[in-house]
Amino acid sequence: MILVLLGAPGVGKGTQSRKICQHFGVPHLSTGEMLRRESKSGSELGREIARHIDIGHFAPDRVVTQLVGEFLSRNPAGCLLDGFPRSVEQAEQFEEYMAGAGAELTAVIELQVGRAELERRLLERGRIEGRPDDTPAAIAERMRIYEELTRPLVDFYRQRGVLEVVSGVGSPDDVFARVQAVIERRVQGDK
Ligand code: AP5
Ligand code: MG
Repeated sequence: MILVLLGAPGVGKGTQSRKICQHFGVPHLSTGEMLRRESKSGSELGREIARHIDIGHFAPDRVVTQLVGEFLSRNPAGCLLDGFPRSVEQAEQFEEYMAGAGAELTAVIELQVGRAELERRLLERGRIEGRPDDTPAAIAERMRIYEELTRPLVDFYRQRGVLEVVSGVGSPDDVFARVQAVIERRVQGDK
């Protein structure tokens, strides 16, 4: 099973990923978490990553490509991707990789939540956890970049017949019930 979770900053990708991976037993790749881990390590590469992601910009492509490539080669049987692909360019690269590996996407799940609620969630987390990109300025930049570079993936995957749109409003368990139903339907459709 190969799943992609798509959606704006704060929509609940990380929260739902943990539930999906626990329930369906697939490994989780969050490119954001991987990049934050490296940026906190104090390495030279980490400092370079932080310069981009702390202000809401994409990390350099070569870093992301390497992280994702290593993860995919370690997990050939399936996984859940959270935060990748994030642009049409990354999606095309990933499509090429999948074709080469003879693999197919089970589903791309787009979570949807209104802008005001997204901002509320991120500002709240910024206040409590202090994630460096949860400041008003970085949130605005992440939203802008999402609209410009990531949202086009919704049509990209709709055209390929793999898109599922799920409301991300309600409690995390309510959202997961909807996500779970969609995944089960897709998996059964495969048989
Ligand atoms: P990434 O970590 O992917 O950040 P993001 O897309 O901005 O999304 P978040 O992690 O903030 O939100 P989420 O959707 O995971 O929601 P969460 O569950 O945490 O990427 C960070 C950065 O890394 C990017 O900006 C970029 O710089 C870089 N990067 C990553 N991938 C890259 C790539 N492929 N290429 C280049 N650069 C890349 O929830 C948010 C909050 O809401 C939490 O506090 C949570 O508790 C709460 N919450 C969750 N669900 C609910 C609910 N149902 N009701 C109420 N609150 C909820
Ligand atoms: Mg996340």
